[in-house]
Amino acid sequence: MESYSREFKIQKNDIGNAGTVASLTKRELKRRGLTRDFVKTVTIGIYEAEINVVIHSYGGYCVVKINDDIVDVIFQDIGPGIECIDSALTPGFSTASHYAIENGFGAGMGLPNIQSVSDEMKLTSSKEGTRLHMKFNIDGDCYES
Ligand SMILES: Nc1ncnc2c1ncn2[C@@H]1O[C@H](COP(=O)(O)OP(=O)(O)O)[C@@H](O)[C@H]1O
Ligand SMILES: [Mg+2]
Repeated sequence: MESYSREFKIQKNDIGNAGTVASLTKRELKRRGLTRDFVKTVTIGIYEAEINVVIHSYGGYCVVKINDDIVDVIFQDIGPGIECIDSALTPGFSTASHYAIENGFGAGMGLPNIQSVSDEMKLTSSKEGTRLHMKFNIDGDCYES
């Protein structure tokens, strides 16, 4: 099938629109005949990363690329960055604001979940911003029979 590439802008604290990247990607993956399980796996990873940019950064963007073999997703944002990546990857660790917690976020499971659902995850961060690159491999079993 033809390859897909789309870029999304993500605004700080815009909880109303958080989930847009996940739901539009979900639609595209379904259209391509991928299984519910595979679609769910990718959607969970994207949703968690999208929420993180909304609640923890000053805003950023996301690029989703899909071809027959892989779903490749990059989230890039502007600061404040992650002080300690090891702590951030620990289940339950969260620095979520009162505002985020009031809206149901901040369980500290986003990054651990992204790590477990993706086939590859690269997280780099500085005071200037954070970049999260995740990959989901597509094989024959991922297509609806
Ligand atoms: N894009 C980001 N920018 C800055 N900090 C982040 C970002 N993503 C994650 N973090 C940091 O890593 C922590 C753990 O993230 P996560 O596991 O998704 O838990 P939660 O979002 O529920 O706090 C966050 O609380 C935050 O301190
Ligand atoms: Mg999170």
